[in-house]
Amino acid sequence: MSEAKRLAGEKAIEYVEDGMVVGVGTGSTVAYFIEALGRIKDRIAGAVSSSEQSTKRLKELGIEVLDANAAGPLKLYVDGADECDPHKRLIKGGGAALTREKIIAEASETFVCIIDPAKQVPVLGKFPLPVEVIPMARSLVARRILELTGGQPVWRDGVVTDNGNWILDVHNLRITDPVKMESELNQIPGVVSVGLFARRPADIVIVGGQPPQVL
Ligand code: A5P
Repeated sequence: MSEAKRLAGEKAIEYVEDGMVVGVGTGSTVAYFIEALGRIKDRIAGAVSSSEQSTKRLKELGIEVLDANAAGPLKLYVDGADECDPHKRLIKGGGAALTREKIIAEASETFVCIIDPAKQVPVLGKFPLPVEVIPMARSLVARRILELTGGQPVWRDGVVTDNGNWILDVHNLRITDPVKMESELNQIPGVVSVGLFARRPADIVIVGGQPPQVL
């Protein structure tokens, strides 16, 4: 696991305040944040988790995992990303957890995104854009995505999301207007969510390094 990811994950602990319910993302960078959260677990009220994977580790560390409906608005959400542009707009969903991640991001006052330097890009789209779809709509959505974007949707065969849905990864995109693309793809019937976090980007980005860079 990368040292840059560890440094970013541990730096994010500085944003956790006493008594908070913390929104927790998914992935290998967040894994370091979760470990650090475990070390201060007595200071927090619990967590809202974006995946079964993160829930499992939070519980193993003795952190209470709360239902998002019961927790209500959150002050802080910490999560990784697959790509991040200079406006803090993101591609997420490489770990197939995009829908729950998007719900928690929307519910949170401050979204702190933790990345290693390789995730920084001038324009989003080199990383294939994940789109979660209702299984029966897979081929319809793939056709519409091709028409709308020119990108090539590829079914992530064998992957079922925590919500029981499937993922299309859209290759060969150059996303110059991520807010527009996010809203257009969201309109296709059968799309559950799009891995573009542009309408609600990150508020703070921590790039792992010695020392970590806070943007
Ligand atoms: C999960 O679906 C993704 O959105 C993750 O946040 C993203 O893939 C993080 O990647 P790392 O494993 O590199 O942190």
